[in-house]
Amino acid sequence: MILKEADLVRWGEEVGRSVKPPVFIGLRGELGAGKSVLARAIASGAGVERPMPSPTFNLLFRYPAREEVQVVHLDLYRLRDPEELWELGWEELGSDGEIVLVEWPERAGPHLPEHRWDIRLTPPEPGSKLRIVEVVREGSPPHLTGFPVTIESVT
Ligand SMILES: Nc1ncnc2c1ncn2[C@@H]1O[C@H](COP(=O)(O)OP(=O)(O)OP(=O)(O)O)[C@@H](O)[C@H]1O
Ligand SMILES: [Mg+2]
Repeated sequence: MILKEADLVRWGEEVGRSVKPPVFIGLRGELGAGKSVLARAIASGAGVERPMPSPTFNLLFRYPAREEVQVVHLDLYRLRDPEELWELGWEELGSDGEIVLVEWPERAGPHLPEHRWDIRLTPPEPGSKLRIVEVVREGSPPHLTGFPVTIESVT
């Protein structure tokens, strides 16, 4: 699907409201693609009320959401070494009640969880206010609502 920002936010909020944690969602796309916009929308739908600064330097922020749910927001852009993942508590992520949102998941390479969603945002052309949204299922993550077509990973 191709969405303008307001519709991407509306979809993200619906995802956050309806998804059953634990779930791991990778947010892919170039700088400025809208990964943080979507992360905030999903978190807001899940019940996060605080502002969500970009975890660019801290790499990880954790927020209380609706009852028994926590949103964990990571931005791995500045990850230099997979060793840093262990310092972040990477192996414990995705425990009960956690909605884990990871920008630049490709930086974690082979350490990404087997069961996850990957959402890729791409402007159809430079400077566009629209984003092509592709949702890829890896393994068997919990159901995501509101998306017309899901691409099954072929790997
Ligand atoms: N259709 C759209 N969906 C999402 N964002 C859009 C859209 N159109 C324009 N934008 C703008 O693009 C920018 C996206 O910024 P955002 O911080 O979410 O990017 P990002 O992918 O997280 O980048 P980074 O890799 O630097 O973290 C925002 O300024 C937003 O207003
Ligand atoms: Mg971002």
